[in-house]
Amino acid sequence: VHWQPTDVSREHHAALKNQTPKVLWFTGLSGSGKSTIANEVEKRLALMNRHTFLLDGDNVRHGLNRDLGFTEADRIENIRRVGEVAKLMADAGLIVLTAFISPFRAERELVRSMLPEGEFIEIFVDTPLDVAEARDVKGLYKKARSGQLKNFTGIDSPYEPPLSPEIRVNTIDMTPEEAADHIIRNLLPLK
Ligand code: PPS
Repeated sequence: VHWQPTDVSREHHAALKNQTPKVLWFTGLSGSGKSTIANEVEKRLALMNRHTFLLDGDNVRHGLNRDLGFTEADRIENIRRVGEVAKLMADAGLIVLTAFISPFRAERELVRSMLPEGEFIEIFVDTPLDVAEARDVKGLYKKARSGQLKNFTGIDSPYEPPLSPEIRVNTIDMTPEEAADHIIRNLLPLK
């Protein structure tokens, strides 16, 4: 397979949208608040007339990645594919938001390395396990503790927290709206 050059560049795509592409990569435990906060951030960006797209773990696993489960190998492939899609969308000029547990540092760093310097923004939704488990919005922690659900992140499958994320949000002292405001403040000036 040979690389086929195309004439309309990523810079041109971005210039048409009058924005600098970014990948806002949310990572955190199940139930940490990734999807809720990413959704709030996307709403704020839309109000700022930014062209965005939100890729969410639960949704992508209904389509593109419906063949993948939660073994280590499948999670690695999940994030690899999402990274490739996010890169394509950034090449098209978009500000991409992704909300995946993305438990392994190596894959998050792989996605970072696929993008131009400064384009990958790691956002750590830093909700401790005991808090996510106490919320248990989907009842999955209960199933994981009782052994009904195997390979559950934080219980019998590892989560490697980011060592130096660009942005970190604490969901104990902040509402999702406050967390989104904090993220937007950290992103500004968005050009
Ligand atoms: S990963 O680790 O990045 O590949 O996971 P992701 O694609 O983000 O999918 C996480 C959502 O899948 C549901 N779910 C599980 N999560 C973790 N471990 C196991 N075993 C599992 N089984 C199902 C769960 O609803 C996750 O959603 P969030 O929004 O993170 O709670």
